[in-house]
Parts: sequence; C-alpha cells; structure tokens
Amino acid sequence: MERDAARLAPSILAADFARLGEQVAEAEQAGADRIHIDVMDGHFVPNLSMGAPIVKSLRRITQLPLEIHLMISAPDFFLDEFVEAGSDSFLVHWEGNHNLDRTVRRIKELGKRAGVVINPATPAAVLEEILPEVDQVMIMTVNPGFGHQHFLRHTLSKVERVRQMIERSHTRCELEVDGGLDEETAPMASAAGANVLVAGSSIFGNSAGVVNAMNRLRVAIGRGKRASIDSAFQIRR
Ligand code: DX5
Ligand code: ZN
Repeated sequence: MERDAARLAPSILAADFARLGEQVAEAEQAGADRIHIDVMDGHFVPNLSMGAPIVKSLRRITQLPLEIHLMISAPDFFLDEFVEAGSDSFLVHWEGNHNLDRTVRRIKELGKRAGVVINPATPAAVLEEILPEVDQVMIMTVNPGFGHQHFLRHTLSKVERVRQMIERSHTRCELEVDGGLDEETAPMASAAGANVLVAGSSIFGNSAGVVNAMNRLRVAIGRGKRASIDSAFQIRR
C-alpha cells in the first residue's frame, strides 16, 4: 500500500520556553503537521515537564493540532483538564495502564483522537487488540523521560512489524515514532514504516533555526526514500 509523506510533529520539550510562542509559530510556518507536547509527572518517568496551562497558552497562538503525550501514572484523571485547555489528541502508554481500553474510550467520548504508545522494551504484540480502536500508535525510539537521547536502532524492526500489523488490519491508524530523530535516523524510521515523526532537539535545538531544521529533515527523509526505492529496484533486477 502506498503511504503518504512523513509528517513532522515538533516536540516543544526542546524549545526555548522564553520564546515558545515564536518558535511554535515558526514550526507552523514551516509546515509542521501538529505540535507534540510531552507531559511528565516525575513518577511514570523520572522527570517533570509541563501541564495544561502550556496547552491553553499555545491554543491561543496556533491553528495546529496539539498532541499530548501523557507520560504520567494516572492519565484518566487529567484528560478533562487537557481537553478544556484545547488539546486535540492524546497519546497514552500501554505500560502501567491496567485499563487501557477504558482510557481510550474516554478519550474518544471526549471527542478527541486517541493513540497508544509502547516503550522500547515492550513487544509490538501488545498492540494487536487495541489497534482497531485507535487513531494512532506510537513507538518510543528512546526510553521516555528526556529529550536529546540517542535513537535506539533495535526499535526499527518493531516499527516494521507494527507497520505490517496496521496494513493487515486495514485501518487508517497513523504510525508515529518519538525520540532521537534527526537527519540520520528520521529516514531510517520513515523507511521502516513510520508516517509521523516527533522531533525535539533536531528542530528546536538546531542552530540553523526551526524552519531550516524542518526543511533539512524533510530533504533527508526524501533522500532516504529514494535510496530505498533504488535498492528495491536493484534487488528486483
Ligand atoms: C521523550 C519525549 C520526546 C522528546 C523527543 O520522552 O517523549 O517527545 O521530546 O526529543 P528528542 O527529539 O530531542 O529526542
Ligand atoms: Zn513525546
């Protein structure tokens, strides 16, 4: 099945918070598909980040969908607050959620898009039953909790397996990847089957600026795609 071009979801975890509105506006101008907002509670992951007030402020300055990645122990408890603040979609982890189906249903009842996330050591198979119920699945390509970590290459084969699961299930579920994505690793994740790429440091931490950084990522992904088409052609010959 032919897939659409990879979409970029800049993660504001790497943004300069003193210039957050400006940086998000730049990402919007540069054609970001959505803004990725990492919420951490210091319990589910060993770090703290941001909450609903940031969503509320960003809602006033951007038309882009605001995607909330909940790395917190009790996601159900915070959904209403984030919806009220203007969130469009929620990514919730499989790990530690004993009632994942209930969480997904609640997100959909609230009229928002629901996605399920798995960590690097979690097998793809846990997605099998929930796949038809969600709009997105996300594979962590680093261990969650921090920006600017090294991409874990062993997650690529899992991205390929989940892409096959999605094709078999004939859903329109998006396959997203998160962590360590830059000009070298984004093309690999895209070639493995990801169609939404979250990137923090390689966009907001890039000295070339947000717009140039996003253009460079797109060029690298396009180059990787052409290389994999060429090598498939050579194998067939
Ligand atoms: C990590 C977060 C990521 C993070 C990615 O727990 O979920 O979204 O912002 O940052 P980079 O692109 O710097 O790895
Ligand atoms: Zn994230």
